[in-house]
Amino acid sequence: MTLFRHFLAATLLLLALAPGRAQTPAQLQSADAPAGTIWLDSVDISKARQGYGQPRAGRSVDDHPLTLAGVVYPHGLGTHSVGRLIVKLHGAATRFTSLVGVDDETGGKGSVIFSVVVDGKTQAQTGVLHGGDRPQFLSVDLTGAQTLILRVGDAGDGYFFDHADWAGALITLAPNATSRPETYQGGDGPPRLVIPPPDPRPAIHNPHIIGATPGRPFLLLIPATGDGPLTYSAKNLPAGLTLDAKTGLITGALQRAGTASVMLTVRGPKGMARHTLIIIGGDHKLALTPPMGWNSWNVWATTVDAGKVRAAADEMIASGLARHGFQYINIDEGWDRGTRDAQGRLQPQPSFGDMHGMTAYVHRKGLRVGIYSSPGPFTCDGPFCGSWQHEDQDAATFADWGFDYLKYDWCTYGNVVHGSGQAYFQHPYAVMRASLDKVPHDIVFSFCQYGMGEVWTWGARTGGNSWRTHGDIDDNWQSLHDIYEHEAGHEVYASPGHWNDPDMLMVGVVGKGSPHPTHLTPNEQILHISLWCLVSSPLLIGCDMTRMDPFTLALLSNDEALDINQDPLGRAAGRVAQDGDLEVWARPLSDGTRAVGLVNGGDDPATVTARWADIGVKGRQPVRDLWLHRDVGTFDSAYSVQVPAHGCALLKIGRAR
Ligand code: GAL
Repeated sequence: MTLFRHFLAATLLLLALAPGRAQTPAQLQSADAPAGTIWLDSVDISKARQGYGQPRAGRSVDDHPLTLAGVVYPHGLGTHSVGRLIVKLHGAATRFTSLVGVDDETGGKGSVIFSVVVDGKTQAQTGVLHGGDRPQFLSVDLTGAQTLILRVGDAGDGYFFDHADWAGALITLAPNATSRPETYQGGDGPPRLVIPPPDPRPAIHNPHIIGATPGRPFLLLIPATGDGPLTYSAKNLPAGLTLDAKTGLITGALQRAGTASVMLTVRGPKGMARHTLIIIGGDHKLALTPPMGWNSWNVWATTVDAGKVRAAADEMIASGLARHGFQYINIDEGWDRGTRDAQGRLQPQPSFGDMHGMTAYVHRKGLRVGIYSSPGPFTCDGPFCGSWQHEDQDAATFADWGFDYLKYDWCTYGNVVHGSGQAYFQHPYAVMRASLDKVPHDIVFSFCQYGMGEVWTWGARTGGNSWRTHGDIDDNWQSLHDIYEHEAGHEVYASPGHWNDPDMLMVGVVGKGSPHPTHLTPNEQILHISLWCLVSSPLLIGCDMTRMDPFTLALLSNDEALDINQDPLGRAAGRVAQDGDLEVWARPLSDGTRAVGLVNGGDDPATVTARWADIGVKGRQPVRDLWLHRDVGTFDSAYSVQVPAHGCALLKIGRAR
């Protein structure tokens, strides 16, 4: 009997240790790990990346016991879409087993897709799992594998209530394994950038070309840096405009259409700088370079108020960013009361009060102001008014209040007008275009409808100065990656005055109403800014301007990167070469050189190569690295460099004319 018991115990142990042997779903509910296995939550799960909340060991994302279909699991990872955890296995594991589903705490809401990726190949993937669905059992062979990635996608419908559980997740170890699995953040590591000391010599920055309609208010703060006090002068300023020599503010109204080459000079104690500014007077000449500024949504969402808008304007000046070309202070959703007055006029929230006073405050600083509405009766996220059947009236109100920019967000239009096809998507934007054309004020028109009806193919001819090409950005890698991958091919539709808009910036303290430092790693942020400069996106800072750290400031004030975004030629970059996660993006610049981004979307550092044949140059060419701020040498036919995981090297290649 005793012998038999020993035999049985030995057999069970052998079975449990057999390489690749799957655990049963029932075993995943226990408190103790079966012999030869470790719980996933015994490794450092803090390295998991996710779209909301924080990863929790043995608890749901909202800090309840991990529960799927009424069963509580003492172990596992409570996470949230969109997310992933990378586990370096070192060949020391044989199997991964887990139950997966949406935690019971959502009360039936949420929808996710779980995938298990082993050494770059997806080895298991669920269909869409909704809250309340039966959990699925996943069991994947890991024999000899180096890297396991556990991913949670949002099933394409946004990430709300996507409380994703890897319940009872277990890793079976190889017999005699000498190393243990460990997690890895991916994209971590020191940022590939050098922060240069401020240059005391005067310099004049973007824009170098600007358009306005004759007869309408003109406003430009000459963007200049250098030790002060600076004084400004201009030769050949068109009739109707005046320059304040002390502040660098150009105001007035152009008297006639036409092009003027204005020679700007800025003098300071450490020298002087000259630059030509082209001023073009005419109809529909706005945003000849992509708009640069700030928008309230990514940090404040609907908690925006006039105080926050004024503070953003104050900080745009105090931080020095206005001196690098950032001009707009834009209010997103949440500024109006949701009801109109007896005459049908929009009414600001009490927290906004006097709109004239607020716009005048921002204008006095040399900055412009933006507002938000929808072609539908209401906006997206609250009881706020859209401009449905009030287009002329609202355009007149915005002009009267002094707004210079309108973001027009589809939101509820589809609830009142049903249809499909390009003409359907185009119509409400054409209607507001006509209304804006009737007002005596220049208003940049920003279409926001997430790319429906391939807006990039008709945005320009419908009078859009920019058009969103994708859904909303979030401060996580998945979102950033999806958006930049989607951008490839759109470059042919961008031109001066008409820009693809892959959405606002997610650097600094962001969070759409719950402010926190961005969850993008420093290298992901470098990639974000590099690509947004390359593809000529509007650059709308989305963070709390009053909490700007030196790294964020360095990202946003790199004039060499901004020069690419603002290049007067206005040719957006496209993806010219791709090898898996490694990509080369390139565009021609007005000085005859090429701007090039070497992108590493992979989870490990990698060498990325710009081949002359791909980027359109020939012969021996100098290369400058724009984040390292140095010339790196002269090369014959290609340039290769190590790029961090989720990073980007931004280069200028070629000899300027
Ligand atoms: C979305 C838009 C966002 C923000 C938000 C406000 O539709 O894409 O950028 O404006 O609405 O609810």
